[in-house]
Amino acid sequence: MKTEILKVDKKKPELKKISYAAGIIKEGGLVAFPTETVYGLGADALNATAVRKIFKAKKRPADDPIIVHVYSINQVQELSEKIPTNAKKLMEKFWPGPLTLILKKSKIVPKEVTSGLDTVAIRMPSHPIARALIKSAGKPIAAPSANLFGKPSPTKAEHVKDDLNGRIDVILDGGYTNIGVESTVLDLTSKIPTLLRPGGINLEDLKKVLGKVLVHPAAKAEKKKIEVMKSPGMMYRHYAPNADVILVEFGKNRNANIKGIIAEYRAKDIKVGVISTTKNKGNYGANIVKFLGNKPEKIAKKLFGTFRELDKMGAEIIVVEGIETSGLGLAVMNRLRKASCRIIKV
Ligand code: TXA
Ligand code: MG
Repeated sequence: MKTEILKVDKKKPELKKISYAAGIIKEGGLVAFPTETVYGLGADALNATAVRKIFKAKKRPADDPIIVHVYSINQVQELSEKIPTNAKKLMEKFWPGPLTLILKKSKIVPKEVTSGLDTVAIRMPSHPIARALIKSAGKPIAAPSANLFGKPSPTKAEHVKDDLNGRIDVILDGGYTNIGVESTVLDLTSKIPTLLRPGGINLEDLKKVLGKVLVHPAAKAEKKKIEVMKSPGMMYRHYAPNADVILVEFGKNRNANIKGIIAEYRAKDIKVGVISTTKNKGNYGANIVKFLGNKPEKIAKKLFGTFRELDKMGAEIIVVEGIETSGLGLAVMNRLRKASCRIIKV
């Protein structure tokens, strides 16, 4: 299959291009498109055959359910059995935007979308291209991130092309995405709302609306504690570059530890990249140094792209500075912990 790449104006998406791409969705094809978080790989959410194509293109295991993207609250009503009061409050405050809500599913949602669960993940994206596409298709669009399974999520069209060229019909190229990490996933089917994945909407802001929010252990991703070494094929990695990632958690001895680790690898002639937040001090003697700034918003925006860049530059090891977990820092640390082969607590 030849993958067509269409440049689209991200502020004022050209209707002709959008309705062409929407036509492909309606016919059961696959279209990658930008959202405010990362690029998604979209198919008609109500067409089981089309949804199965997503799993094949991404090489994604079938037991990982997919988020359904909507344009209107009407569509939410069709997809879910009932919309609880909490959900209404959150939709009012954060939609359109990077918040995914888990609700009880209705009968029209194919089991391929939810991997057989009786719940469905729904979000209303705010990106003009995403909105225009869903509106024009006239159907909800099922879309995971548009990367090969396990790889960092794509934050520009070129990343999608690197992973999925020849495997999907169209890529709508709207330049860089804004947030850089995926949406927050919140389960509203449990007694107390539960954060399953930290993302574009902060836990602190959810608590302001809901009062109590539980944090699922998977959202912190702290399970792989102290110095877990990679054993090929055994460790579950996600959002990961080809290079082995070593994460040094935030703490008093962080910087000294990073220096020591990098010196060790360099002595063995191994090419080391470092992802650093502190200019000048933060180059640690690595072969390649990437500064992402010290604000979690900036780090989130550049993180996945930097992983891919370091791979292209031939880094064999990537050492990353851990940051504090407040605000968007929780989402950044979740991705870093999941991407790493080794986590060092200091
Ligand atoms: O920002 C985002 O959320 C991006 C853009 C494209 O919208 N999408 C995205 O999708 O990150 P994906 O497939 O890479 O991640 C979806 C997450 C997975 O962790 C999946 O397990 C969870 O949402 N999920 C989906 N349906 C679920 C359900 N019914 N119950 C629990 N978790 C669910
Ligand atoms: Mg993903």
